[in-house]
Amino acid sequence: MELIKVTEQHEPHVALIQLNRPKELNALNPQLMQEVRDALVALDKNEAVRVIIITGNELAFAAGADIKQMADKSAIDMLLLDQFTTWDQIRKTKKPIIAAVSGFALGGGCEFVMTCDMVIASETAKFGQPEIKIGTIPGAGGTQRLTKAVGKAKAMELILTGRFLSAEEAHFYGLVNKVVPKEMYLQEAFTLAKEIAQLSPVAVQLAKESINRSFETHLDEGLTLERKNFYLTFASADQKEGMKAFIEKRKPDFKGQ
Ligand code: HXC
Repeated sequence: MELIKVTEQHEPHVALIQLNRPKELNALNPQLMQEVRDALVALDKNEAVRVIIITGNELAFAAGADIKQMADKSAIDMLLLDQFTTWDQIRKTKKPIIAAVSGFALGGGCEFVMTCDMVIASETAKFGQPEIKIGTIPGAGGTQRLTKAVGKAKAMELILTGRFLSAEEAHFYGLVNKVVPKEMYLQEAFTLAKEIAQLSPVAVQLAKESINRSFETHLDEGLTLERKNFYLTFASADQKEGMKAFIEKRKPDFKGQ
């Protein structure tokens, strides 16, 4: 594992996965997501593990998919890359996953948080789907899960403007379970994990599966549409301009093409 750190027994029955590309604010590339998937598959099989915590660092949980790796891709490159099979495998993890979030959870980072089951946030956490500012849209479930989490009007505002939510706002809208001072977010995630780890792992797994079913009945259809539209943005000049402008640290000039 190059881009994540895994501690199988950080506490009895509780494993920790730390995203570890600090210089890039934990920007999510396919390799990182595959490492997360491989770790989760192994932890799901490991009978000693009952609850999994995923975290980043104080500055960032993850600032989104890696824009530098995506900027020049065509719609067909994105389709063939097929990165969302990895995300689908992550979402099939049977054991509960708690996201412990400090700093930025943006774009794919926010989508990753919403793929987890519960969220403990530091008061410094910032959530958002800023893809629109670089000429694309959420591609890993954001239009579906954020809408279910915060309601249509707020999801429209966040996804159409790219505005960020503070930790307190995210708590108000039900995106996170609890907000704590930044020295405490990981500890608080462990407190929650240890409480769940004392309970029947069988019942916990079945309860998780059942709760997720309430989201998933129509999720497949929604995710399919979202993916097609996400790929389609890579056929636009605006996506090329938006991502290029980010890399060149200037404002994008969108032409609507
Ligand atoms: C690649 C990224 C990155 C990203 C930050 N970096 N976010 N690199 N992809 N998503 C890099 C920067 O280029 C920079 O590297 C370094 O991390 C520090 O970032 P700064 O911008 O200098 O930091 P700061 O001024 O503090 O601003 C933080 C920030 C900003 C607000 C989070 O970095 C930002 O807006 N990032 C992009 C957020 C975003 O648009 N996310 C959505 C991506 S699309 P250098 O080497 O230049 O110093 C997406 C689609 C998901 O997620 C689809 C499915 C997977």
